[in-house]
Amino acid sequence: MNRAQNAPQPSKLTRNLGLQGRNTFGFDASAELAYEITSAEQIPEVMESIAAQKLSWRVLGGGSNVILPKVLPGATLLMNIIGTEITSSNQEHSLVAVGGGVNWHDFVSWSLDNDLPGLENLALIPGTVGAAPIQNIGAYGIAVADYIDSIEAFDAHTDSFVTLPKSACHFAYRDSYFKQHPHRFIVTKVVFKIPKQWQARIHYADLANQFATNVTPSPEEIFLAVCKIRTRKLPDPKVIGNAGSFFQNPIVPNEQHETLLGKHPNLVSYPDAPGKRKLAAGWLIDQCGFKGERMGNVGVYENQALVLVNHGGGTAQDILGLAKCIQEKVRKEFGVSLEIEPNIL
Ligand code: EPU
Repeated sequence: MNRAQNAPQPSKLTRNLGLQGRNTFGFDASAELAYEITSAEQIPEVMESIAAQKLSWRVLGGGSNVILPKVLPGATLLMNIIGTEITSSNQEHSLVAVGGGVNWHDFVSWSLDNDLPGLENLALIPGTVGAAPIQNIGAYGIAVADYIDSIEAFDAHTDSFVTLPKSACHFAYRDSYFKQHPHRFIVTKVVFKIPKQWQARIHYADLANQFATNVTPSPEEIFLAVCKIRTRKLPDPKVIGNAGSFFQNPIVPNEQHETLLGKHPNLVSYPDAPGKRKLAAGWLIDQCGFKGERMGNVGVYENQALVLVNHGGGTAQDILGLAKCIQEKVRKEFGVSLEIEPNIL
């Protein structure tokens, strides 16, 4: 094969691309300039062109954790790099390299089909593999960081590709080095390290209830149980627009937790770092009477108060207006600040 045949295809550029189908809130939004990225090799040229035109830019994966305005100015990079490959395997673990544009749930299914259990608690989370480490997605007692070996990304500060080992990713609850440095990294590939020794993690209340009479479930049984629980509690974005949890679970000092518990004996919380407690934001919002509330075209989901929904025709402004009402009421009732979880673009 000659050099020309080996050269990457240039990325496809579209002006005023509609994004209603590419954000799970279903907001009517468009990208001024959209670059479709199907291979890492396309990125340096795209970024050079963006810099030359002095455009703002951002990456859009599955659009499941973003609040989009009517028009996204500048450049939007649509992350569509695919490919899933077991790169090495020994007695302890397997390494699996996955393209940033691969659908997260499809990858979880693939891992089980290929006898690499571990990720089943994270089934049915919307979004892409490349977006997963940015907010360190987590559910039912595990977080994606627990399974990451390293991350390959384009660093827009140095105009070069970098490989960050897990230790450099500064993972924490819904947080990472990538989230702390926005507009810098474009995640192209995530390398997962999946241990050969598998253990069921069903301690989380919802799963423990599900397996009350079967304490040794298989990975597939856990996968199906997680899908069932999520389907029951969380709205399907294809039916009702939403971005999953709209707020993070707030972390408060033990003393504040004790005071709150004195006043609200049913307060739901979990242990966190020493001296701290994580409160269930859904419970706080529910107690304020917001569950199922509607404000114009947007509202609070009827089965889970932590999820804000677009009933159709809602906008970023509508959802942020509702979020502000909730934040104010929760602050007034409990003295706790709620942080918005999705990225406001
Ligand atoms: N609760 C209420 N009312 C509600 C919602 C929740 O009283 O309307 C109570 C529940 O009864 C429960 C507690 O609050 O005792 C926690 O609720 P849940 O188990 O549904 O989990 P969560 O803390 O609301 C977190 C993650 C979810 C993840 C689940 C399961 C965050 C911000 N959210 O939700 O992640 O699926 O745990 O592990 O950490 C997401 O980030 O998009 C997401 C869906």
